[in-house]
Amino acid sequence: MRKLDLVSHYGEYVVITGATDGIGLEFAKQFAAKGHSIVIIGRNPDKLVAAKSLISNFLNPGKKIISIQADFNETDIDVYRNIENQLQDIKDKIAILINNAGVLLEQPDLYLNLDENEVLSNVKVNIIAVLMMTKIVLPFMVSNKRGLVINMSSFAAYSFLPLTGVYSASKKFVEYFSQSLEYEYKSHNIDVLTLLPSYIATKMVRWSNFLSKPSLLFPSAEVFVKSAIATITRSSHTTGYWVHGLLYTSVYWFVPNWLYTIFSYNFIKHFNTSSKM
Ligand SMILES: NC(=O)c1ccc[n+]([C@@H]2O[C@H](COP(=O)([O-])OP(=O)(O)OC[C@H]3O[C@@H](n4cnc5c(N)ncnc54)[C@H](OP(=O)(O)O)[C@@H]3O)[C@@H](O)[C@H]2O)c1
Repeated sequence: MRKLDLVSHYGEYVVITGATDGIGLEFAKQFAAKGHSIVIIGRNPDKLVAAKSLISNFLNPGKKIISIQADFNETDIDVYRNIENQLQDIKDKIAILINNAGVLLEQPDLYLNLDENEVLSNVKVNIIAVLMMTKIVLPFMVSNKRGLVINMSSFAAYSFLPLTGVYSASKKFVEYFSQSLEYEYKSHNIDVLTLLPSYIATKMVRWSNFLSKPSLLFPSAEVFVKSAIATITRSSHTTGYWVHGLLYTSVYWFVPNWLYTIFSYNFIKHFNTSSKM
């Protein structure tokens, strides 16, 4: 199969939120290695410096990396204005936006046991940041007459997930928003890729030793991102990783929703270490 040159197809700069760790950091490394310039957005200044230095090792000659500090737990519009201002100089070269930053719960739990800030963070980071970053970057793509938006949803959006209901609802939001965007901007030559992977071994699933250890079923961020990038222009709504694709198809065709709910509830419950449940 012929490999698509993503720089010629979409342009130079890839803007990635949550690029200081896990999947976002891996997207930054792999797109840098493909010849893109990179914009990384992260909340922690020290982690941003470390990520910038690491990603620089993957850049092709003449390519650049820009880092922007932004904490999406702040909903003050100035946080987003600052990002918008810092992107002005490269707006003609922005090719790809990856809405990747995300939070899960500290651990699966009953709704009333969740900390209020944790609940709000799932809305601010998983939903509001996706909406605001798209508001900022999509106009550049429309005026460039090309672009790609990658939105990180999750297998958690497949059905409601008791004990991580806030997270799964936020990812359903991302899925629906992303698919609507795809339909609306197709005629502007803008592609939208909605990714819905199952568990990937990153710090997000740190509450489980089992999930944190990369395996065929729960791959490392490196394996997942390589596979997800290969789906660009070939799919627009995918788990991004073949084993998760098999899982999705099997669940869709062979597992009734009531059984899926019982299974996922008992699987997730197992990871709760609080005595309050
Ligand atoms: N891992 C999985 O099993 C899995 C499965 C399906 C979908 N996903 C989705 O994939 C995406 C990436 O997840 P991951 O596994 O790579 O998680 P991760 O390793 O925890 O990384 C999340 C990234 O988001 C950043 N972030 C968190 N809160 C932020 C905030 N308030 N402001 C700005 N940035 C913030 C983190 O910054 P810090 O470095 O400062 O923490 C980090 O860079 C998420 O949207 C997640 O929902 C993950």
